[in-house]
Amino acid sequence: MSVTVYVPRDSSALSLGAEKVAKAIAQEAAKRGADIKLVRNGSRGLFWLEPMVEVATPAGRLAYGPVQPKDVTSLFDADFLKGGKHPLALGATDEIPYLKKQERLTNARVGITDPVSLDDYLAHEGYRGLKNALDMAPAEIVKAVTDSGLRGRGGAAFPTGIKWNTVLNAPGEQKYIVCNADEGDSGTFSDRMIMEGDPFVLVEGMTIAGLAVGATQGYIYLRVEYPHAHQNLNAAIQAAYAAGYLGKNICGSGKAFDLEVRLGAGAYVCGEETSLLESLEGKRGLVRFKPPLPAIKGLFGQPTIINNVISLASVPIILDKGGEYYRDFGMGRSRGTLPIQLAGNIKHPGLIEKAFGVTLRELLYDYGGGSATGRPIKAVQVGGPLGAFMPESQFDTPLDYEAFAALWAVLGHGGVVVFDDTVNMADMARYAMEFCAIESCGKCTPCRIGSTRGVEVMDRIIENQDRASNIQLLRDLSDTMLNGSLCALGGMTPYPVLSALNHFPEDFGADSKAKAA
Ligand SMILES: Cc1cc2nc3c(=O)[nH]c(=O)nc-3n(C[C@H](O)[C@H](O)[C@H](O)COP(=O)(O)O)c2cc1C
Ligand code: SF4
Repeated sequence: MSVTVYVPRDSSALSLGAEKVAKAIAQEAAKRGADIKLVRNGSRGLFWLEPMVEVATPAGRLAYGPVQPKDVTSLFDADFLKGGKHPLALGATDEIPYLKKQERLTNARVGITDPVSLDDYLAHEGYRGLKNALDMAPAEIVKAVTDSGLRGRGGAAFPTGIKWNTVLNAPGEQKYIVCNADEGDSGTFSDRMIMEGDPFVLVEGMTIAGLAVGATQGYIYLRVEYPHAHQNLNAAIQAAYAAGYLGKNICGSGKAFDLEVRLGAGAYVCGEETSLLESLEGKRGLVRFKPPLPAIKGLFGQPTIINNVISLASVPIILDKGGEYYRDFGMGRSRGTLPIQLAGNIKHPGLIEKAFGVTLRELLYDYGGGSATGRPIKAVQVGGPLGAFMPESQFDTPLDYEAFAALWAVLGHGGVVVFDDTVNMADMARYAMEFCAIESCGKCTPCRIGSTRGVEVMDRIIENQDRASNIQLLRDLSDTMLNGSLCALGGMTPYPVLSALNHFPEDFGADSKAKAA
């Protein structure tokens, strides 16, 4: 009987040699006459163990990693197809503590199934949410999403049900569902992992969104830097059309939903929803004035739902198991789970999906194992390049939108980037200003001019020129950007800048120490 061997096709594993490992396993099996079925799964998200190879045994799936082509002969010698002992053996995959302690709802299938096999998707509870949605009235679908407490995972944490209700009630000839798959935040990869590891769940989530508000056309706006996600999304969309899950007559219901992927060219600001819509319409990615909200007047002037990948990919489980099931996870007003992405200077980087409420310290030490360099962790930046730097004294903060806001920090898309004590926070503040200057769309003055002046002021502070007055100038400038910018790119750049200044005054020189005190 053939033995199933899993070698990930996720780009994190590919970048570490998974393709060569897969080839080596196929060749060695052929040479030895071993009957194997090679499945290219998504990644389990334990990046320091990639490429992580799994074998299906009667006792469940067993893992080996990180595997390189040179290890393949010895794996066969050790009879790994029957779970034989080997220095790279990790035991039962589900028992690896990093995985075992997680609560995977949105990522339930990622790393487990063959991402482009519709049969595998169906065999693992796929399309159950859509089947339920097809029997529900649009307002009932919206209610289930509202009841779940789901808030947008793209950054702003806006309640998804309220957004959907606005589009449901907005008059329009043609409504649209747009998925924001631009994923531009530093240290983030959860959208990519879903799109590469379980693209059907996003396709299903968008189809349900279409039924909920009466939209018959969807677009996935995908960053061009994600070629593997592009491939898998297209394969899933094609399979969904062929099996009647997309098109003019979804599952024989008479309801229609068409879906296609559009590629963005890699500007950070094109992740901002109105700029994204401009880009999708074929124009330069300039931020639009609001109102009108995209829910009222979005793509091509029509009512449009625009949601992040994770928001939409969380919808199928909500429609399958009910809003209450999802809402039972989490704390306060942060309901459900968040796929957290641990990156930067950390021993065990990867994807951790947990209910809201887990603390930063648990993530950094229980999961992450401390810094990769072994040095003390000085700070983390949560929520992308516009997120605040958080010092050690804040590591006991639970992951909760309100708890972070109370500290003048943001959770954003759930990216956590780790820095050890060799990092100078004044340099990081300068970097934040420079990032804003480079990525600014240029529409409003506080951001376009402010960020360039901000880099100059930071240079003077770093060079110790008239430090006290330049720090005051930096605070004034941050205040102007915070309150006067048209969108959050300029409006949030002060978060990393001022948090660096307030929490690490020693890196800005003695003058600032006195100021912050
Ligand atoms: C500069 C900037 C970049 C953004 N980049 C992204 C992004 O890459 N992906 C994303 O989902 N949201 C991004 N957002 C947030 C979107 O504007 C918007 O809030 C989101 O797509 C709404 O979906 P959600 O409610 O599901 O989170 C960005 C916002 C700003 C201001
Ligand atoms: S804040 Fe920056 S990115 Fe946003 S609209 Fe103004 S210039 Fe454009």
